[in-house]
Amino acid sequence: MCGIVGVLGREPAAPLLLDALKRLEYRGYDSAGIATLGAGGHVERRRAAGKLRNLEKVLDGDPMIGTAGIGHTRWATHGAPTEANAHPHVAGRVAVVHNGIIENYRALRDELVASGARIESDTDTEIIAHLLNGALDRGLAPEAAVRTVLGKLQGAYALAIVFEGEDDLIAAARVGSPLAIGLAEDGTYLGSDAIALAPFADRLIYLEEGDWALLSRGGVRIFDETGAETRREDTPTPASISLAEKGNYRHFMAKEIHEQPAVLGHTFGNYVDLSEETVRFDEAASIDFRGAQRIAMSACGTAYYAGLIGRYWLEKLARIPVDIDIASEFRYRETPLAPGNPALFISQSGETADTLASLRYCKAGGQTIASIVNVPTSSIARESDVVMPTLAGPEIGVASTKAFTCQLAVLASLAVHAAQARGTLGPDALKAAVRALAETPGYVADALRQEAEIERIARDLSHAKNALYLGRGTSFPLALEGALKLKEISYIHAEGYAAGELKHGPIALIDEEMPVVVVAPHDAVFEKVASNIQEVAARGGRIILITDERGANEAGSDAHETIVMPTVPELVAPIVHAVPVQLLAYHAAVFNGTDVDQPRNLAKSVTVE
Ligand code: F6R
Repeated sequence: MCGIVGVLGREPAAPLLLDALKRLEYRGYDSAGIATLGAGGHVERRRAAGKLRNLEKVLDGDPMIGTAGIGHTRWATHGAPTEANAHPHVAGRVAVVHNGIIENYRALRDELVASGARIESDTDTEIIAHLLNGALDRGLAPEAAVRTVLGKLQGAYALAIVFEGEDDLIAAARVGSPLAIGLAEDGTYLGSDAIALAPFADRLIYLEEGDWALLSRGGVRIFDETGAETRREDTPTPASISLAEKGNYRHFMAKEIHEQPAVLGHTFGNYVDLSEETVRFDEAASIDFRGAQRIAMSACGTAYYAGLIGRYWLEKLARIPVDIDIASEFRYRETPLAPGNPALFISQSGETADTLASLRYCKAGGQTIASIVNVPTSSIARESDVVMPTLAGPEIGVASTKAFTCQLAVLASLAVHAAQARGTLGPDALKAAVRALAETPGYVADALRQEAEIERIARDLSHAKNALYLGRGTSFPLALEGALKLKEISYIHAEGYAAGELKHGPIALIDEEMPVVVVAPHDAVFEKVASNIQEVAARGGRIILITDERGANEAGSDAHETIVMPTVPELVAPIVHAVPVQLLAYHAAVFNGTDVDQPRNLAKSVTVE
């Protein structure tokens, strides 16, 4: 992960670099740094451990004047998040910023140390600066130095490089990590994604796998992985990509939770045709649900939990078997893939390295690649045969909320569409399902009205050291999601379990200190969950029950607290019950005073495997 930027302009580059880095902070916030070419073309550098605001303070006290520069915001992989490990890394006449991992860095580092190089950081990046500087010392021009050094690197990287005395040059390279070039009248720009460049660039070029480039103020020269000069199409910068604002909300996460009725409306609106009482998937036309024997899904984290819920829907409604894996594990099962079957990938960012690697694995196995993504310009979107967008808009809070429910919206719509195609639901059931989908944004708005009550309950939860989340059926993945949300933003240890699994071990954890959040709308499995609730209550566990009115009436007295959701059709209950799960975690984190939008150790986009 990490975000990288580059600016070749006419004004001082540092403020523009900082501005672009702010839009990339979702990629990591362990440290940040900038290098520009200052007086006499010398490389100048400012760095700071921690968030970008620390670098901003350094720059306030010690501004930079160069109009050419590169910048970085880091998510630490090699070496602690200290200033010494912050990028840019400088060796002699070269400064480098890097996103990714150089896999053969130990061997390269040993060679450099043996030849007398003084390595100052623990990073894999610094060796690139030394290798380039060594190439310059041997008399190579920057272009030849870049060409030679790239040939030595193994792993995944996006790089931006400046050279002393070369005020009209940034070299860039991409293997496995995305990189976009921005073109404008007043300069040329570089960034890990289009969002970083949106305010500056009129047109964008996305580098392809293995490409490297030489940027100047007048344009760009691009070389492909064979080293041959090539052309890549440029496209207008989409107007829609700009930095989202927090508005009157205290955190982006709160704003994004409250945006859900609107963005679910957009997302369902893209697929549900209420006047015809049908679901349309024009873009998914090439998923042959009639011919498919099974679907292979993979995703990470919250997106994986969305996929788990999607599996219940696709199997139940469309009677199609679904294999689902955590993307970081999928390839290692070496699962046999039947060519021509669909493989479905779910990702907010569209850049998650493990999900992308699974996609490429399935592509090599002859699968039809379909994706549910929120960023339409992302690598996953661009490498898919079929793209089904979530229209959640930019999600800035590191903890995924609106992207999750929009992923569920697409998956529920897709399951109904697949059921239509496979003839597994009768006309009345289909119409009822379509109406349920269309009404979901309204149900979610109703769910949000319970916020004050949920906030009250979260105060108690915030004092806990541990928590359990339980659910059965589609509520089981929601229990997993609830536990993930709580631990990532409030740092309270939490585990999600299938409610029926409790008695096979975890019930030993139950005592008066243990809050147990049970997600249980009154659905087909409610009676069974009610028994599991009694098992917890009998052992003194403090139950926080998330249910609907009927569920509250039937199980309410066993619960310590009950959060009552609107009564909704079973199909869409997971989308509605996601709201209290999110709000509980959000308010517990606020009570605990954690950094809700940028929790420690995390990054929004995980572009390393
Ligand atoms: C948790 C969270 C992560 C992401 C995961 C996948 O709140 O946001 O678990 O869901 O890193 O990211 P994407 O969806 O961008 O592939």
